Formats: sequence, C-alpha cells, structure tokens
Amino acid sequence: MGTHDQPERERAVTLDDPAAIARVDTHRTREVLAAFPAQCRQAVALRPEPGGPFVRPRTVIVAGMGGSAAGGDLLAACASERLDVPILVHRGYGLPALAGQRELVVAVSYSGDTAETLSAAQAALERGCALVAVTAGGRLAALAAARNLPRVTPPGQLMPRMALGYLFFPLLAILKAAELTVVKDGEVDEALEVLDAQADALGPARPTVANEAKRLAQALGERLPVIYGGPLTGAVAYRWKTDLAENAKTFAAAGTLPEMNHNEIEAWGGPLARERHLIFLRDHEEPSEIARRFALLRELIGGTAGGTSEVWARGTASVARLLSLIALGQWTSFYLAVLRGVDPWSVPTLDALKARLHGGPP
Ligand code: PA5
Repeated sequence: MGTHDQPERERAVTLDDPAAIARVDTHRTREVLAAFPAQCRQAVALRPEPGGPFVRPRTVIVAGMGGSAAGGDLLAACASERLDVPILVHRGYGLPALAGQRELVVAVSYSGDTAETLSAAQAALERGCALVAVTAGGRLAALAAARNLPRVTPPGQLMPRMALGYLFFPLLAILKAAELTVVKDGEVDEALEVLDAQADALGPARPTVANEAKRLAQALGERLPVIYGGPLTGAVAYRWKTDLAENAKTFAAAGTLPEMNHNEIEAWGGPLARERHLIFLRDHEEPSEIARRFALLRELIGGTAGGTSEVWARGTASVARLLSLIALGQWTSFYLAVLRGVDPWSVPTLDALKARLHGGPP
C-alpha cells in the first residue's frame, strides 16, 4: 500500500526525510527539478540551426502534445498582452485550415517521435508554411536534417514535461528571429532569478514548515485538486493539472476566471465538493475585476470545498510570474507523488499507449 492513509504528522516526517523521498523517487526527479533554473539558463542560449532571420508571419502555430505543447501555452500567455500576431497552440494531427504560406509553424516534440506532431510538421511542409523543429531527436530530427530545416536541439534524457525550459525559451529566440519580441532580455533575467529563489524555497532540503510546495501537497491529501487561474495564469492551472496527472498519477481539474464563474461555479453546490480541494493561482498584477471575482468565489464556494489554498505568483514581468507558479506546481506534484508512494518520473500507461500505437495499425 502507498502512503494514502498516513496521519498528518507522519506525512510531514516523510517529506522532510531524504531517505523516505529517495525510496519513492528512484529516478531522481528531485535533481531534475532542482536543476530547472540551470536548464532554463542553458535554454536561453539555444538557437535554431540553420538560423534565421525568418519572415514575420501572419500567425504562429506551435504544434506539440503534452509536455511539448506546454512551452507553447506559456509563450501564448506571455504574448497575449504584447504581440499583434496570434499564437495558436495546436494539439493534434495535421494543422488548422488557416495554415498556409504566411504561417510560421514550430513543431515541438521532445522525443521527436510523437505521431500528431510529425503529422503537423508534414502538413506544414505540404502547405508551404515556414517550419522550425524543436526536438532532441527521433523522426522529427531526421525530417529536419533531410530538408535542412531550422532545428533547435535540446539535450535529451529528460521527461518532456521536465524539459519545459528547453522547450519554451528557444521559442522566444525563434520568434525574435521572425521580428516578434515576446519577452525582453531583462525580463528573462528576472525570470531566471525568480526560478533560483523558487528552487531554494521549494526543494527537498527546505523543511515542510517553510516550504509552500510540501505544505500544499500535504493539504491536498486525498482530495481532488481543482485549480483556477485568472486570464494570465489559466494556462498554468492546466499545467498544474497535467503535472499532477503525470507526476502524482492523480486526477485534477483546471479552469480559468472569469469563464468558470459562468458554469463550473454551480458544481460546487453539489455533494462532491467536500472531496475537492480548491487552489487559486493568484497574481499581484491581475486586474481588479479578477481580484474581486476571486474574493467573491472564496466567499461563495470556499465553505463547500474540502479545503482551499491560495498561492501567489512571484516576480514582476509575466514570464517570471508564470514560471514561478509553474515551479510551484512541479514541486507540489512531486511531493504529492512521494506522499502517494508513486514514482514521479515514469508514465507507464502513457508509454504503453505509445508502444501499441507504434506497433499496431494507425
Ligand atoms: O510529458 C510527457 O511525457 C508527455 O506529455 C509527452 O510530452 C507527450 O506524450 C508528447 O511526447 P513528446 O514531448 O516527446 O513529443
């Protein structure tokens, strides 16, 4: 049996006991998460080869799945308040109908062997889109090499979701080479500093009493996490959900304000609310209308939820704020995995599906 039935005190001991963490975290995910700021620093220097400049596009389409799409979500969130060119994150086979010669398609697949992303890259070639690949290898790397396409090459050996730095920062460089500045250099520097601070504040060496991620994992316990972000942080809410699914192997729900005020808010009157744990992703820069909605939401549904937690973004620019919350989600899902007694690294069912897809008919 895992650690599901442990009392509160025992669970606190687990998260502050390096040996207890090591027993569950056999693939040393904790070291990869602790090295996330270093990964991001390295990623900032990555450039497509052969390099740009690229033509300024009408639309940017980031094609990828799962962990490889997450960098696209982050890019789109950062760009929403600055860029006059739309960024579409495309998760699926092929490409949307609008994709043509004026589009820039960035095909992102960490492994390089994801069927949907390969299909999107193929569609980009057929429709005459500008195409850049971001991949550590596989068939996407082979396709880029065969056609001398620009390719960003991150180091391999990570799980895609844990390579977010490598899959996000190069997107900024690619867009910059297409005359689109999404994040300024000073803002990248700030984000890296915030991530350094987060790694220190949230890592296993920081005791539970002073560690927001450990405390949140403990507070969640067996309840289903329901994560709500605002207009900017909604994308991070979804990232928390996917990290909780893959790292802690647990269901989670994610939503965004103000949209959830118009539908999902009603679900909190139902009998299952007690088995849910509300997590609000707050942002000091959120508009006052959104701050008021969070306050009202807390009043209206906070009492029906089994528990409520509010966490705050760090930093000034959007990229720092978003990454600070992503780091908190990564660590929270890691500690929840430890408490549940599941290896945060492996994704055996996901792997089994891919193996069957590759081995069987399409
Ligand atoms: O995190 C994961 O392992 C998955 O979500 C993968 O990112 C997803 O299956 C796509 O694979 P890849 O990132 O190699 O294209």
